[in-house]
Amino acid sequence: MKLLEVTDLAVQFATQDGTVYAVNGLNFALDKGQTLGIVGESGSGKSQTVLALMGLLARNGQASGQALYQGKNLLTLPASELNQIRGNRMAMIFQDPMTSLNPYLTVERQMTEVLQFHKGQDRTTAKAASVRMLDAVRIPEAAKRINMYPHEFSGGMRQRVMIAMALLCEPEVLIADEPTTALDVTVQAQMLTLLRDLQRDFGTAIVLITHDLGVVAGLCDQVVVMYGGRVMEQGSAQQLFKTASHPYTLGLLKAVPRMDRDDESLLAIPGAPPNMAHLPKGCPFSPRCSLADTQCQTQLATLQPMPEATHHLRACHRDSAIVSRELAHG
Ligand SMILES: Nc1ncnc2c1ncn2[C@@H]1O[C@H](COP(=O)(O)OP(=O)(O)OP(=O)(O)O)[C@@H](O)[C@H]1O
Ligand SMILES: [Mg+2]
Repeated sequence: MKLLEVTDLAVQFATQDGTVYAVNGLNFALDKGQTLGIVGESGSGKSQTVLALMGLLARNGQASGQALYQGKNLLTLPASELNQIRGNRMAMIFQDPMTSLNPYLTVERQMTEVLQFHKGQDRTTAKAASVRMLDAVRIPEAAKRINMYPHEFSGGMRQRVMIAMALLCEPEVLIADEPTTALDVTVQAQMLTLLRDLQRDFGTAIVLITHDLGVVAGLCDQVVVMYGGRVMEQGSAQQLFKTASHPYTLGLLKAVPRMDRDDESLLAIPGAPPNMAHLPKGCPFSPRCSLADTQCQTQLATLQPMPEATHHLRACHRDSAIVSRELAHG
């Protein structure tokens, strides 16, 4: 049995403008100690995917499909059972650190409460464990700093506190939603090394959300590329980097800074992500795709296995050989 197995996950929001189909037909499976990257531009459905798994969608949101965690469907689990898993067996680092830290409580109070609630530890044991975890994420003078309030930490340190909080109960699944975007490049690199070390030490499976394929290359086993609430391409990180064959993935790859090229060849994908309340009829990426034809504009492409690699999937009407020839990144 897989640790986490997501089948045909969809998320819809009821709005005054009509139904927003934020996530459609998403499938993936994660084993212990593996990392899955979810990549895509702003608004592509990355956060709503994982918020659905954690039972944290906004009130106008509705998830469907199946998300089995150790055989239990998270989407239909009673709140009491979900609360036992959430923050304990599955934990999340949120896109905005301040949404999960309470500004009025010291870090000590927030961390020890988690251990008291989930593990039934007394205050002294919980405090010692919390200090150890702050040490593990390399917060200097953890024993002293644990008494501080969140705003007394710098942005980078606050992010570390969040990671420490998420890892407190040694979760089997860690969901990290853009854990490094708010940080400068040096701290970003430290953060990623930290996640990798923690994964090695604790065997945690990680779902990592990012809009940066460079981050994926360093950390992920599998990758899901999303656009307009749909999966455009999906496969092992190796397949995606070697033989990417969706025009959107190739566009993202061209936007990744590389050491062996100067920055002038860095190309952002022209145009802007779609309005999710008014998606085009065909492939959501077609208005920005240089290879789009009439079929692309009128008909949604389904996710299909690549002929030579059945675990490498893409949703594109255009022949993969033509796509790679026309858009190859070099
Ligand atoms: N409560 C809501 N009501 C209606 N639409 C919503 C709601 N919450 C999110 N959406 C829409 O769902 C879509 C997907 O949002 P999501 O938060 O998953 O994007 P994202 O890929 O995480 O982007 P970013 O990189 O900016 O964080 C967006 O178009 C967003 O506007
Ligand atoms: Mg997001």
